[in-house]
Amino acid sequence: MDDPAVQPTGHPQTDAVHFGEKRWMGTITTPVALSSTFVFRDVDEMIAFGRNEVPHYEYGRYGNPTREAAERKLAALEGAERCLLFDSGMSAVTAVILALCDAGRHVVITDDAYKQTLNFVTRVLPRFGIAATVVPMGDYDAMADAVRDETVLIFSESPTNPYLNIADVDRIVRIARDRRVLSVIDSTFATPWNQRPLDQGIDIVIHSTTKYLAGHNDVLGGAVLGSVAATEPVYQWRRVAGGVIDPMSCYLLIRGLKTFGLRMERLNRTAAEVAGFLGQHPKVRRVYYPGHPTHRQHDLARRQMKGFGAVVTFEIDGDLEKTLAFLRGLRLCMLGPSLGGPESLVTHPALNSYYNVSREERYRLGIIDELVRLSVGLEEPADIIADLNGALDGIPG
Ligand SMILES: Cc1ncc(COP(=O)(O)O)c(C=O)c1O
Repeated sequence: MDDPAVQPTGHPQTDAVHFGEKRWMGTITTPVALSSTFVFRDVDEMIAFGRNEVPHYEYGRYGNPTREAAERKLAALEGAERCLLFDSGMSAVTAVILALCDAGRHVVITDDAYKQTLNFVTRVLPRFGIAATVVPMGDYDAMADAVRDETVLIFSESPTNPYLNIADVDRIVRIARDRRVLSVIDSTFATPWNQRPLDQGIDIVIHSTTKYLAGHNDVLGGAVLGSVAATEPVYQWRRVAGGVIDPMSCYLLIRGLKTFGLRMERLNRTAAEVAGFLGQHPKVRRVYYPGHPTHRQHDLARRQMKGFGAVVTFEIDGDLEKTLAFLRGLRLCMLGPSLGGPESLVTHPALNSYYNVSREERYRLGIIDELVRLSVGLEEPADIIADLNGALDGIPG
């Protein structure tokens, strides 16, 4: 029988359990190799390594067996030739852009990308002589028009935060290929369980592995995935600039991935149930969930996604006061940023992520006072719904 640690089966849950593991000395789990340096057996091995004739981890910034196991497993899940792990999602995002863009070059990005990604692109990149054009999400004519001779890449997310907008991946691929630029998708909210942008022709996929992939709210990480050719500048960048994930975090990522399929199936199902419940509640004005028939891109989501993830965003039918009353009424769902873990987490984007943005600017971005983002967790669906129901019923008036 083929060793499932060596040969991917193509079945995501089997590969999540077995593929990429390094089972030294009979260990069933890949050990945590804390070694920062890797010694050569003898002079001959050192010379052969220098000539590129034998593989060797050499030094922690360049290689590590625990990291390699995690990278191989994630690459198999995403259908990528190569995965590069970083110490956070933002390290992965910034490494991709800085590795690929020289001074004088240009990037195109959609306007509802993660706040810090947009910050980086619009405020930090100009310091290095790299320009950016921010285009409205869903406006593919604007995206195509924004590409110019100096453009290196088009960056988008799908689904996006907090409105769960869906990028039309096929259209982005067509524009990028037509204009000979790279296409990059941050697929954090979807995960490879629900969508595989590389299969659709995207060049580079990014994840914050902090979220669903590690899946337990206990480790930060980021991943860059694609062909060896597309990711080579990022690989070389990481060797120089660092930002590598540590071995213990890799172990936690591997451990989290063992239950990846089980968690995603459950989360997809519970989130659909929760969105259905919220959609019919009189104190909820509107629900944003790609799996919900009222989502304006439901058909597109169904075309390019296998499941719709576990973030459900909704508007309380009322004002800020009523929205805060709802948040105060929650007993099970906790208040906090992030998503993709076992615990249901609620954020109020206006007062949490956008607290330092003026109300006018917030409203321009669509971050209204009544907006609530729920990251559905692994609790019993009936308990999550009962908690939401209790808090909604508790809203005065
Ligand atoms: C879509 C998306 N990309 C990237 C990031 C950054 O990831 P990290 O927090 O792991 O740096 C986040 C974080 O919330 C995110 O939501």
